[in-house]
Amino acid sequence: MFSLPLSDDARIAPLEVWHAGEFAGHLDRARDHIRPWVGPAFVTDDVEGARSTLVRYAEKQAHDGARLFGIWSQGVLVGGVMFTDFQAAAGCCELGCWLEPSAEGRGLVTPACTALLDWTFRKRGLHRAEWHCRADNHRSAAVAKRLGMSLEGVRREAWPYAGKRYDKQVWSLLATEWPPTDH
Ligand SMILES: CC(C)(COP(=O)(O)OP(=O)(O)OC[C@H]1O[C@@H](n2cnc3c(N)ncnc32)[C@H](O)[C@@H]1OP(=O)(O)O)[C@@H](O)C(=O)NCCC(=O)NCCS
Repeated sequence: MFSLPLSDDARIAPLEVWHAGEFAGHLDRARDHIRPWVGPAFVTDDVEGARSTLVRYAEKQAHDGARLFGIWSQGVLVGGVMFTDFQAAAGCCELGCWLEPSAEGRGLVTPACTALLDWTFRKRGLHRAEWHCRADNHRSAAVAKRLGMSLEGVRREAWPYAGKRYDKQVWSLLATEWPPTDH
């Protein structure tokens, strides 16, 4: 299987159905940390739930749609990045990411997203990539900023979570802005 190095001890590679057991073990370490910030369908409780997420993405990938990539550090799955949406005909996609707590603050997600964006713009010729996050998710917004994205606006109270509605930020990057000058 292919993988790309992110650092001396971390790599990114496709996250596929056969990783269901490993993905479920990772979610046990990540669940509480990511739950407020990601879509509810992504936070499953057991191997079957993890497998159904991987199957859902594999089916979308088979139609050139959404796809998932894991981040392994010292051989352990610690998080990942994804296209939550990928529409080649429309030239638009949306990226997402997550990490378990031990992998945060190590500079893993920004280079992983850089690899996805490079493929999006240079190889696939898409025109626009989006990033959606809760407006109070400062670490996620910081990733969007590091990727050179611009904050386009706020969708007010568009993110329901635990009985409350939060604002959602929409960030974007255009093919004409890639690569950012500081990369
Ligand atoms: C969003 C999330 C993935 C961001 O993770 P992150 O570790 O902050 O982001 P990066 O991997 O880009 O790493 C950058 C951090 O690593 C630090 N870092 C350490 N070594 C580094 C290196 N060699 N290169 C670059 N940065 C490095 C940076 O200083 C920065 O930390 P700081 O913000 O405390 O200064 C993580 O907070 C998370 O999983 N949150 C919960 C789920 C979530 O919100 N997902 C997004 C939904 S929209």
